[in-house]
Amino acid sequence: MSSQRTLVHGLILGAFCLGFGMLLVLTNSFTENDIAQRALEDRQNSLAQVIPASIHDNNLATDTLSLKGDQGNEVVAYLATKEGKVTGVAFETASPGYSGAIKVMLGVDPDGKVLGARVLAHKETPGLGDKIEVKKGDWILRFTGLSIGNPPLEKWKVKKDGGQFDQFAGATITPRAVVKAIREGLQFFDANKAKFMEFKSSKTETAGANTAVAPK
Ligand SMILES: Cc1cc2nc3c(=O)[nH]c(=O)nc-3n(C[C@H](O)[C@H](O)[C@H](O)COP(=O)(O)O)c2cc1C
Repeated sequence: MSSQRTLVHGLILGAFCLGFGMLLVLTNSFTENDIAQRALEDRQNSLAQVIPASIHDNNLATDTLSLKGDQGNEVVAYLATKEGKVTGVAFETASPGYSGAIKVMLGVDPDGKVLGARVLAHKETPGLGDKIEVKKGDWILRFTGLSIGNPPLEKWKVKKDGGQFDQFAGATITPRAVVKAIREGLQFFDANKAKFMEFKSSKTETAGANTAVAPK
């Protein structure tokens, strides 16, 4: 009698587990597309801030080139093209700040000049390190138009380290990390310029994705 009861309990428990499992699978399949769509919109938003709309007629978010970064990491570059010619490149660059990685989206023109830089993610202290965000101040806008050479490489530092970029009062680590991320991003651009420039676009906003992996 008692073994029959154990069997019934086991079956009920099994049925519950199966039911919950199926519910999880269903929920996941319903939200997957939404999450992918949201991620694409986020990417398009951050790209639009570092690559002016006027310089491209293609879909930046889908014209991509995958390259190897300095640390052997994969860097996805988003290519801006106009009438088939490459007019800009955007990619993520990062450096450790006071509390964790600071991620920056960097847009660069074919001459290696910054088209725009925006902090995508950070965990710096509110009121101290967060002035790197465009909504908290114009500090990040001062990189626009600059390149390696303007200022010279040795000036790509905060003023406290002998460079040309302002640090924040009582917070040097955060701006130092952002200057480093942008400088390294520009050096990455220079090192891969030939690969970027020979990129062939899918041309129109409505054309399908054109995802390439650069030849080694
Ligand atoms: C609680 C706390 C949070 C801090 N957060 C930051 C930060 O987000 N960014 C930063 O650069 N420094 C931060 N600092 C300050 C650093 O410890 C360090 O003193 C400073 O960045 C060095 O700048 P300084 O050379 O101008 O003193 C924080 C300090 C404390 C005590």
